[in-house]
Amino acid sequence: MKLPAGPTTNPKLQMFQWVSSPLKYMETNRKRFGDVFTARFGEKFSLVLFSDPQAIREILSADARTFDSGRANGILLPLVGSESMLLLDGDRHKQQRKLMMPPFHGDRMQTYATTIEKITQEVMDSWQVGKPFSVRAATQNITMKMILNVVFGLSEGARYENVRQLMTTVLDMTGSPLGSGSLFFGGLQRDLGPWSPWGRFVRRKAQLDELLFAEIRERRAALDENRTDILTLLLCARDENGEAMSDLELRDELLTLLLAGHETTATALAWALYWIHKLPDVRQKLREELASLGKNPDPMAIVKAPYLNAICQETLRIYPVALITFPRIVKSSFSVMGHHFGPDVLLAPCIYLTHHREDLYPEPKQFKPERFLERQYSPYEFYAFGGGNRRCLGQALALYEMKLAIAKIVSRLDLVLPDDRPIKPVRRGVTLAPSGRLRLVVTAHL
Ligand code: HEM
Repeated sequence: MKLPAGPTTNPKLQMFQWVSSPLKYMETNRKRFGDVFTARFGEKFSLVLFSDPQAIREILSADARTFDSGRANGILLPLVGSESMLLLDGDRHKQQRKLMMPPFHGDRMQTYATTIEKITQEVMDSWQVGKPFSVRAATQNITMKMILNVVFGLSEGARYENVRQLMTTVLDMTGSPLGSGSLFFGGLQRDLGPWSPWGRFVRRKAQLDELLFAEIRERRAALDENRTDILTLLLCARDENGEAMSDLELRDELLTLLLAGHETTATALAWALYWIHKLPDVRQKLREELASLGKNPDPMAIVKAPYLNAICQETLRIYPVALITFPRIVKSSFSVMGHHFGPDVLLAPCIYLTHHREDLYPEPKQFKPERFLERQYSPYEFYAFGGGNRRCLGQALALYEMKLAIAKIVSRLDLVLPDDRPIKPVRRGVTLAPSGRLRLVVTAHL
């Protein structure tokens, strides 16, 4: 079947460009081919990218049975395992999603407020006046502690500390711009002993698995059904045959939440802090809004604050953490804006390109939270969290965490960027993050 036009350069070269400079790759091809083009990453691996909101609507609002997605996420297999919700399709995916939804529902967020504020404060206490700190490391610390708390209901103890450290190491290995290559190019996944890059990854990952299995075994043996954390919820769950989840299924879902639940939010929070301190007007307006809420405002008042909300949306518009949604694999046939596709074609709404359309977002390279106050964008014009039956499970948690952490940091500390050089986005695994050079320094406590 003939796919829409796209670059005809060697697929390996296209894959290299997609991994090493994804924004350039997308923007160049959007200029050449328009709102839809086919990226060719291998002999049998093509991805049709869309950026027109009409096409996005047609894809994201299609019946859930139209597409598979899980089997296109194999790139994440070494990190999360084959039983992860990210890799499942059909009924099993639906069932797992339904099971894990309640703790991420908007209503539950209020129970997390005190923990988010406590964790943010702990991390802030480690920043010394006059000493620059790495923003990504700090935000990663906040979101990792938070997700461990939501998933396991614990935040102290040796095992927790070890899980935290191993998780960070494993992610750093696949997250560096170079390390990302090992996820995309399967040939680099060769265990050539404990000192080889993939060998190190495999060994650290095995240690992490062991800790998770140990926690699962202990919790299963002494199950306390009154706990509200996700591990307890999953341990109590039974399928239609009355079967409990196996240790392997549990490990993969825990890893999924730990991975999906902290890396993305850490990146978004780091970008938000960058823009707030890069643009004095933005910080000023935010401070005025926060001050208007009074001393020690109710967390819900913070979450509803319009300008803070606009900052979070603009942060996720300009550099959406995920460049594309999960690919949608056509199961039998599907048409988008007059293009017809048969079985096994991969379609991908391109979040980055839609978010950079001049007709929707004038001066798209400028950070302007006001645009979200002046106009209501549809879920097909702004979709940093994807949509349809694969929509991000943690959207409410991510925004809640971002807002409470930003409010606390900005209203308690004066921070500056140590230099004026712009921070460029770089690939980190399957996400787009600020380069490791991003630092902030505390100049005063307020
Ligand atoms: C700013 C932070 C975040 C961003 C930008 C983000 C973005 C996304 C995107 C784009 C998808 C794919 C959606 C699609 O293909 O339609 C996704 C899926 C997912 N996200 Fe997030 N995410 C964030 C935070 C979180 C958090 C905090 C969690 C918590 C556990 C989480 C858990 C998941 C899960 C489990 C899926 C897979 C859903 C499925 O397969 O049905 N994410 N996320």
